[in-house]
Amino acid sequence: MSADPLWYKDAIIYELHVKTFCDGNGDGIGDFTGLTGKLDYLQRLGVTCLWLLPFCESPLRDDGYDVAHYERIHPDYGSCDDFVRFLEAAHARGLRVITELVINHTSDEHPWFKAARRAPKGSPKRDFYVWSDTNQRYKDARVIFGDVETSNWAWDPVAGAYYWHRFFDHQPDLNFDNPRVRRAVMKIVRFWFDLGVDGLRLDAIAHLYEREGTSCDNLPETHQFLKEVRADVDRRYLGRVLLAEANDRPEVVRAYFGDGDECTMAFHFPLMPRLFQSLATEEAAPIVDIINQTPPLPESGQWAIFLRNHDELTLSALTKQERRPLLAVYAPEPRMRLNHGIRRRLAPLLGNDVDRLVLAHALLLSLPGSPVLYYGDEIGMGDNVALADRNGVRTPMQWTDGLNAGFSTAPPADLVLPLIQDATYGSATISVAAQERESTSLLARVTSLLQARRQHQAFGRGAIAFLRCDNPKVLAFERTYRDDTIVVVANLARSSQAAVVEFASPMNGFYLMDAVDGSMLPPVGAAPYGFTLAAQECRWFHPVASPAVEPLTGGEAVRSAR
Ligand code: BGC
Repeated sequence: MSADPLWYKDAIIYELHVKTFCDGNGDGIGDFTGLTGKLDYLQRLGVTCLWLLPFCESPLRDDGYDVAHYERIHPDYGSCDDFVRFLEAAHARGLRVITELVINHTSDEHPWFKAARRAPKGSPKRDFYVWSDTNQRYKDARVIFGDVETSNWAWDPVAGAYYWHRFFDHQPDLNFDNPRVRRAVMKIVRFWFDLGVDGLRLDAIAHLYEREGTSCDNLPETHQFLKEVRADVDRRYLGRVLLAEANDRPEVVRAYFGDGDECTMAFHFPLMPRLFQSLATEEAAPIVDIINQTPPLPESGQWAIFLRNHDELTLSALTKQERRPLLAVYAPEPRMRLNHGIRRRLAPLLGNDVDRLVLAHALLLSLPGSPVLYYGDEIGMGDNVALADRNGVRTPMQWTDGLNAGFSTAPPADLVLPLIQDATYGSATISVAAQERESTSLLARVTSLLQARRQHQAFGRGAIAFLRCDNPKVLAFERTYRDDTIVVVANLARSSQAAVVEFASPMNGFYLMDAVDGSMLPPVGAAPYGFTLAAQECRWFHPVASPAVEPLTGGEAVRSAR
């Protein structure tokens, strides 16, 4: 693995749940042994970092985001030794590993909560959580899971008091005003970094503290605590990532980087709905606007950007007027919606159109930040809106067209979640094995994009300059890092488009080499440069001084046959 402590700036992250990736022991539930067996696949795909969804001991009422023991692995997924074997095997292949740190809340089955509800009022054990005699405090804090919860307070008959919870009522919030809680959390951070993980995703990090008269989100106390965590991590380890999950406007999330003394990464939530907006309206403007609203980061900071994840596609960063047309296009049926978001996977959202899926990936892989791919989206897996909560986007990975899609050898009734079965998205149609055999499959095309991205640090580290372009359906920009420049032109329309662009960097006399297939366009002259793009085509070009292969002829640059 690279010794560069800023490795995460060049990372291509792959998000997966151990439970649904691959079952190594035939009990119907994915596990670390199964995952370890699939590292070759992940390496072939070309990702460089794995983000594992929660796998600690838990009653699994929120898929593991309800932790019952922070230092033990859920026995369904294997033992601690299995985890360590997996980690070593991943590292041996140059793959980094980011795991979850869910500290805003615990499960109500965590021993801390069991003790707290029985401990005397005001005692340190009781004060591990946030209690109140009334449910009228902190009324300005929004209810996040508004489809299921009506209040952030729940009555506990054992304690004879209300406890605070920002998510499900079985997830009581820890009390960060209690120094014992802060010390306990530091110990958990060290436990996982001592084991050797490369980063921690800080789940729900915006909500750690409560203060009257505020939204109880993004409070200064939260930032102060994160600075203490970061200082401790930097004292003990080199190149470890703290990845903030704070779903808010870019200028608010910017604060999680501090002056380079808080988190190293943060998810860029608002970019994601804008990508879908651009794809729906065939206009570049929504993407340009949100990037232009994004403040610069400290030297060590990096955004994590994504198309889809394990949650609903959240539209909470948009106004009601902006949400309505997106819901109409992407979630026409009410059951596709959840908590102001959309509980569907990428392929069904984009109409199972392979060119559109490749375009979405090409945008994800070229905009500023480190891209996060959600398992199964690289083969265009479908979803199952009949399953409760967000389970419809969390079904088992489809490896083959054989028994249980190659996920498990257990009887189908024993699977942890049902496989996608329909004719369009079932494993007879969509699987890794089938797409690995087909050179024009979505998987093959995404793999080529990943390979090309890995050749250029400009994608991960470069500045972005949007190019003057005469066609609003074409997004054109340059990414530049040191002497590496990439020109990106993306046609968002479902019809072919011509566009004339003015480059930001001096390019006169340079040929444009396609960064994916190596084909060459004619040299740039003094006049603005013309591109003709097929429907939904995105191309990445690298300027080169001399053509390695014969440049294409003809006045206007044309797309080479791939
Ligand atoms: C996670 C969700 C989870 C919630 C509560 C979120 O940010 O991504 O899946 O339900 O935190 O832990």
